[in-house]
Amino acid sequence: MIYLDNAATSFPKPPQVVSAMADALRNYGANPGRGGHKLALQAGRTVEKCREAAASLLGVPTPERVIFTRNCTESLNLAIVGMLRKGQEVVCSHGEHNAVMRPLERFVSRGEITVKVLRPDARGLVSPEVLSRAINSHTGLVIICHASNVTGVIQPVRELGAVCQARGVPFLVDAAQTAGILDVTLDGLNADMIAMPGHKGLLGPHGTGLLALREGIDPEPLILGGTGSSSESVRQPDMLPDRYESGTLNLPGIAGLLAGIAFVAKQREEIHRYERALNDRLRQQLSQIDGLRILGDEGAPRVGITAVVPEGGDSAALADALDATGVAVRGGLHCAPAMHSYLGTMRSGAVRFSPGPYTTEREIDDTAALVARLLRP
Ligand code: ALA
Repeated sequence: MIYLDNAATSFPKPPQVVSAMADALRNYGANPGRGGHKLALQAGRTVEKCREAAASLLGVPTPERVIFTRNCTESLNLAIVGMLRKGQEVVCSHGEHNAVMRPLERFVSRGEITVKVLRPDARGLVSPEVLSRAINSHTGLVIICHASNVTGVIQPVRELGAVCQARGVPFLVDAAQTAGILDVTLDGLNADMIAMPGHKGLLGPHGTGLLALREGIDPEPLILGGTGSSSESVRQPDMLPDRYESGTLNLPGIAGLLAGIAFVAKQREEIHRYERALNDRLRQQLSQIDGLRILGDEGAPRVGITAVVPEGGDSAALADALDATGVAVRGGLHCAPAMHSYLGTMRSGAVRFSPGPYTTEREIDDTAALVARLLRP
């Protein structure tokens, strides 16, 4: 199988990730932070090593401000639900995933908040001027998806964050498609919170996610419960990271994520360059095929994602035909209806190709040839 669905989950993982997970399960699979025995302490050390590695990659000065979650969706929910107050307005981009839009919609439907979606320019980019005009005294949070999971277009997040800083509005970045690929740091993006999955660009396993919090940004926790600390009190501890990490952590997942982050930290820029080159190669070949529209091809910077719509709009049929002939891609709306609505592809959906660090040039060429063959009249 040719796997071109790394924007959903990276696969395969580096072998170190697999062996770190097996090692944790086989040799020290106790409960991190619970109990003082040697195995629990070893499990706890792995969790803290992963937190430190993530903090170093994400430019978070104090590791306890890196919070473990199950995925990017949970990180976004924690940031959104934990920060919003009645009467506030949220400003976001047209590129937001349902992981952002659905939590917002719940507050909107209860009449508790309003949402303003920013209008992008002709290249699909949100400008700092547009953002600045949108912010008012009710703005409680600005949320921007760093790179679209449909078009791959990268927003000028650093400049947008500078506007938020100048206006004193908290800024949340959804780095689902950029963590482990672009330079994603709190200061580099002028971000207050960065949400990300562990299982995409960071090359960790499913069930892992992170939320990086700037000093002074303290959302209300999403989940309350046992933390292994301050157990004498029924009050949720304020201490970080315990405030946000109730319940048993995903030790094997975090052990794998630590190995993934170590792998990425050594070669992030090379991985990004490689994926971009593969993606450019694929776009170039797909652009030669008659009747295929490539989405988001207006010259904006982008990560290694390409989505296409075949003439006649039957994206599902193309995705199914690719699967049947050995290529894994994601068709449909990619949980990003706002972006598809902007692109005019709500009815057709699109077929998305997303290479990863283990994709080869040969696989790209074979895929493009297959698409050409499948679409030949
Ligand atoms: N949000 C992920 C995707 O784009 C799962 O496929």
